[in-house]
Amino acid sequence: ALDVVGPHDLVGRRIVISAGGTREPLDPVRYLGNRSSGRQGVSLAAAARARGAAVTLVGAHLEVPAPSGVDLIAVATAAELETAMAAQSATADTVIMAAAVADFRPAAVAEGKIKKGDDGAGLVLELERTPDILVGLAAVRRPGQRIVGFAAETETDDDALLRVAAAKAQRKGVDLLVVNRVGWSEGFGSPTNAVMVLDGAGTVVARAEGDKLSVAHRILDLLA
Ligand code: CTP
Ligand code: CA
Repeated sequence: ALDVVGPHDLVGRRIVISAGGTREPLDPVRYLGNRSSGRQGVSLAAAARARGAAVTLVGAHLEVPAPSGVDLIAVATAAELETAMAAQSATADTVIMAAAVADFRPAAVAEGKIKKGDDGAGLVLELERTPDILVGLAAVRRPGQRIVGFAAETETDDDALLRVAAAKAQRKGVDLLVVNRVGWSEGFGSPTNAVMVLDGAGTVVARAEGDKLSVAHRILDLLA
């Protein structure tokens, strides 16, 4: 018979996935954000659920609906994402950080709307670093727990992309790093994706290309 539901190779596993992009407030009406739609992370959640895993999706400003059967925790900022991931990963077999986390946030958040004034002057913002959530999660990983990171890079040259990605895989302490190329017209919001998957040593262990759901399944194949 045709197996239309696919393998149930993740039954009994608990997978926590972050997706989307954080927004860091400047004042009550403005933020610093990024162009992540959350599609690849949401596809991972759908694929993991379809394969029988218990899935928690920590979503930051998702542009697509969360899959049914998945527990959704909505967050806004890097700080909220960090808190949610720390709590959820404590009982997870696999942690996947697909979210685009702000690297910097305004050092101070204005209580009222920032006014432009009438002197024609520009504005200089002071930004501070956010915590590296992935590095923190990898540092406290439970025995046997798998940690997966993502990286979106703008290098147009393949060798340069690989070098940057390999260094990042090692620096982050992950088991897998999923790398894709992004640019002004590539990557964000697209229904398709083309990725390389590196192990923690920075060696390419797989390549996958296609719609984001099939790429998600390929990533899960490496974990199953
Ligand atoms: N990440 C994170 N916390 C941050 C920044 C990134 O957990 N403050 C995670 C992302 O979710 C992703 C991985 O780290 O899984 C790689 O993110 P990326 O932006 O590519 O790496 P950075 O270390 O921020 O390096 P850079 O942006 O300078 O390339
Ligand atoms: Ca970054």
